[in-house]
Amino acid sequence: MSLLDIKGLSYVAGDKKILDGFSMTIEDSEVHALLGTNGTGKSTLAYLVMGCEGYRPTSGEIVFYGNLINDLKIHERAQLGITMAWQEPVRFEGISVRDYITLKKTDVDPAHSLEMVGLHPELYLHRMVDKSLSGGERKRIELASILALHPKLAILDEPDSGIDMLSTQDIVNVINAFKEHGSSVLLITHREEIVIIADKASQICNGKVICSGNPSKVAEYYKSRKCLVCNGEVCAYV
Ligand SMILES: Nc1ncnc2c1ncn2[C@@H]1O[C@H](COP(=O)(O)OP(=O)(O)OP(=O)(O)O)[C@@H](O)[C@H]1O
Ligand SMILES: [Mg+2]
Repeated sequence: MSLLDIKGLSYVAGDKKILDGFSMTIEDSEVHALLGTNGTGKSTLAYLVMGCEGYRPTSGEIVFYGNLINDLKIHERAQLGITMAWQEPVRFEGISVRDYITLKKTDVDPAHSLEMVGLHPELYLHRMVDKSLSGGERKRIELASILALHPKLAILDEPDSGIDMLSTQDIVNVINAFKEHGSSVLLITHREEIVIIADKASQICNGKVICSGNPSKVAEYYKSRKCLVCNGEVCAYV
């Protein structure tokens, strides 16, 4: 049985069809990269799988270990082992890095989690998760907090993008740490050089998967800037 089976997922917001028959499968312990240009629906897909407030499929199915989870709330999905690192993690006043990492699961070693994301525990455990952290540091702490949960599925929304982007080597280290815990990863990115560290890749264009399989092949296709499904009419590549 697959870990996650997304079948024909559509999501309409206002008069915009953001996802349009999106299908993808993620197996146990698989790192699956979702590759797509800006505005193709990657974050929306992440919010739908995570079950964020206001995000329920217009049609289609999200199946987790054989169970339909379309209508489960975000905390119910978290209890099943689904977690997410946000594209733009928020900062909080009055909470330390140590408390933030141990908030959701108390029997974890926050120092170890910080080491896994390349931060020295003695320098960061007592810092506050507030504006004093740089964007890159905040992203790393977010990843550390998710690593510490040993999730079944970690959704990482563009850990490699933005002004404070992490390096490819940082991403490789984080992915390896998830692999050590046996977690599956949905790695969302728009950089094809990141895709080759995944076990499998899928390319999204205009809310649907247009090719899927071997990461190097998908990266090649992505670089070719072709979308046979859209035929160039409403394509993100035009
Ligand atoms: N609530 C909404 N109402 C209308 N349009 C929306 C809504 N939410 C998202 N969109 C649009 O849907 C498209 C997909 O958005 P999404 O954030 O999923 O893209 P993305 O692939 O994550 O892009 P990026 O790579 O820039 O992060 C965008 O054009 C966005 O403006
Ligand atoms: Mg996004």
